[in-house]
Amino acid sequence: MDAISVIRTKRDGGALTERQIDWVIDAYTRGEVADEQMSALAMAILLNGMSRPEIARWTGAMIASGERMDFSALTRPTVDKHSTGGVGDKITLPLAPLVAACGAAVPQLSGRGLGHTGGTLDKLESIPGWRAGLGNDELLGILGDVGAVICAAGDGLAPADKKLYALRDVTGTVESIPLIASSIMSKKIAEGTGSLVLDVKTGSGAFMKSLDDARELAAAMVELGNDHGVRTSALLTDMSSPLGRTAGNALEVRESVEVLAGDGPADVVELTLALAREMLAAAGLPDADPAKALADGSAMDHWRRMITAQGGDPNAALPLAREQHLVTVPATGTLTRLDAYAVGLAAWRLGAGRARKEDPVQAGAGIELHAKPGDAVTAGRPLMTLHTDTPEKFGYAQEALADAYDISPKGTEFALPPIVLERVASP
Ligand code: URA
Repeated sequence: MDAISVIRTKRDGGALTERQIDWVIDAYTRGEVADEQMSALAMAILLNGMSRPEIARWTGAMIASGERMDFSALTRPTVDKHSTGGVGDKITLPLAPLVAACGAAVPQLSGRGLGHTGGTLDKLESIPGWRAGLGNDELLGILGDVGAVICAAGDGLAPADKKLYALRDVTGTVESIPLIASSIMSKKIAEGTGSLVLDVKTGSGAFMKSLDDARELAAAMVELGNDHGVRTSALLTDMSSPLGRTAGNALEVRESVEVLAGDGPADVVELTLALAREMLAAAGLPDADPAKALADGSAMDHWRRMITAQGGDPNAALPLAREQHLVTVPATGTLTRLDAYAVGLAAWRLGAGRARKEDPVQAGAGIELHAKPGDAVTAGRPLMTLHTDTPEKFGYAQEALADAYDISPKGTEFALPPIVLERVASP
């Protein structure tokens, strides 16, 4: 077996054999296949695709490159959620303690943000004292006691994906449905959860800009999960405008705590409850009532215990950026469009995100939205507040926002798109 013949097979539009796939993933993980050879193969896959059997074998080989976690000692059923990423997507923060409050165990192994979408760990790290890194025993202990853990995935899970994802990130090969599906699912299957709900986002702020692509990605991931014995379903959800009223790390934690207190923006509450119901059904707890757990304070109680168990102080004040800049409404009317990608890019430019894996993020940076699509707005009133520790970035962020919204004259017909667009499950 050699890398050049594997690359040529895919370059010429052929299907990789099981032996070729197993060999190339193993040899790449061990450093025998060079980065430049794997880049060529990733580009050939991006251009020529992979069949479902190829994707399944590729995923299996990436799982086999590392360890698999085992939650069988827990008495509660395990269920996890994965979002393909969006702007203002803080849903994991209220969702994990909410589902734990309803009786399931939620092992949420998460990542840091790259590009215009935020990372769950970056958000939680804005809470004083909170730490993302846990050993396996500590993780299991918190899952048993509290029922929810949000932490960094250890290096032992799907190391082939870790290496390949970093390579794809710098070679223009992220946007391939077979590579995204196998990357996400290899980590989730190796994590050992019993069931999984995928939030596959579509719209300007998502990886998948079109609903057809989101459907194809969801179907591939649902099939991979179920074939590996993980009960998996997906919701396709709208990411044409930001979720909630904040994009940025501490700003999103604050909004998540509002949701746990029984308040918060309607779209965040609606999606949190929709995903919670899907997760509880997948975990075999269809009669649990997540709306009640939000209203009676039990979800908030689980949040406080989860943060405390990881060294965080749930009572501590959250960091605030040193400087603020108010953007006002230019004309009276109805806000009919607020572009998720533009808001995400502006928040990133203000310091909420990172350009390279090793860059730090600003805890307080980001954007607060004072109006959402469908709201009546008045000229001169606040539209959004920009937050940063580096005020020289205000102009750069405002450039990203130059064409980010439309205001139509009062009385223009306008219908908000639904948050949950479709559900994808095994036939
Ligand atoms: N997230 C992942 O984990 N992998 C991808 O390929 C894309 C998003």
